[in-house]
Amino acid sequence: MSEPILKVVNLKKHYPIRKGMFNKQVATRYVVDGVDIEIMPGETVALVGESGCGKSVLLRVLLGIEDATEGEIYYYGKNTKEMSKQESRRIRKKVQMIFQDAASALHPRFTVMESLSEPLLLGGMKNKREIEKRVCETLEKVGMDASYRFRSPGSLSGGQRQRVLIARSLVERPELILADEPISALDVSLQAQVLNLLMDLQDEYKLAMLFVAHDLAVVRQIANYIMIVYAGHILEAAPSSEIYSNAHHPYTQVLLESAPSISRGVRNEDFHLNLKVGDAPDPANPPSGCVFHTRCVYADERCRTEVPEKREISPGHYACCHKAKTAKEFAQEGCADGKGGCVKS
Ligand SMILES: Nc1ncnc2c1ncn2[C@@H]1O[C@H](COP(=O)(O)OP(=O)(O)O)[C@@H](O)[C@H]1O
Ligand code: SF4
Ligand SMILES: [Mg+2]
Repeated sequence: MSEPILKVVNLKKHYPIRKGMFNKQVATRYVVDGVDIEIMPGETVALVGESGCGKSVLLRVLLGIEDATEGEIYYYGKNTKEMSKQESRRIRKKVQMIFQDAASALHPRFTVMESLSEPLLLGGMKNKREIEKRVCETLEKVGMDASYRFRSPGSLSGGQRQRVLIARSLVERPELILADEPISALDVSLQAQVLNLLMDLQDEYKLAMLFVAHDLAVVRQIANYIMIVYAGHILEAAPSSEIYSNAHHPYTQVLLESAPSISRGVRNEDFHLNLKVGDAPDPANPPSGCVFHTRCVYADERCRTEVPEKREISPGHYACCHKAKTAKEFAQEGCADGKGGCVKS
């Protein structure tokens, strides 16, 4: 079996909260708190969780934009802490990022040509003709005419800008793309187009991808493996088909029920049937025991005090819940407050 392109072990990112004249640390924000990930060549792993759960911070740490507080990151089996500068540069070419907000991720005064040639120049490519050829080829791959290279971002539509951003991530022919909600800023009509484009490119270049989304509906077609994040923790992880047909964590079950409505930015009435009303936890004050207990309708005393361990449901399918079971089984058992039928079965 080949080696994972990316392996992440017990990754944590904590931010100190400082106050007063001496800038003393008074508390900590536990934004990413013990995450494990493994991505094999050509595989797409999706990271799904609601806004504020630490997805973008995690990607920034994976890219080396910020340092981890704890934990290990391996690219091609090599620990990033032990990489020479030269090795880090080589990795940086093979690992690229697509940002959510194409409008601010592209320099407003750069033409498309300048934006796309920048990574090539930084990567050491010198021949102007070769650079131009690569830029034109890449634009065509993302469905844009090569003549767009003379345009500035201001003259492009939102969908075109996102395509340019995707082209920029591909121009160095990477092997792994970290995509931070690459379609969520687009109109619904454009989302499917850009998602299809990403899937075509994935096939063509045999790309591996870490695809971040806040909605399970979006990742259904693209991901081989799905990880559900909540308050900086992975609550459930499984091959895609398992997540959609056999979710064992109450939070995943909520996300599944609410996926279509969340993607439209509204919550349907059912949403509250199996989720206690309230905000996601404050990273500066995470709940004791199970991080989901403040919103879980099945929470009991054990959930409030004891951190659940990772349970293997089937090969490759893990859930961090003391009671892990299907939505139907949870429904049959009823809520912790004695009311039955809190989940639609
Ligand atoms: N540089 C920072 N310092 C302190 N807290 C941060 C910093 N960056 C992000 N956060 C906090 O981390 C949490 C997760 O943010 P983020 O990763 O952007 O969430 P999302 O899952 O929506 O991408 C938020 O509460 C945010 O306020
Ligand atoms: S451990 Fe308890 S609180 Fe956490 S998800 Fe499971 S039932 Fe809910
Ligand atoms: Mg984000």
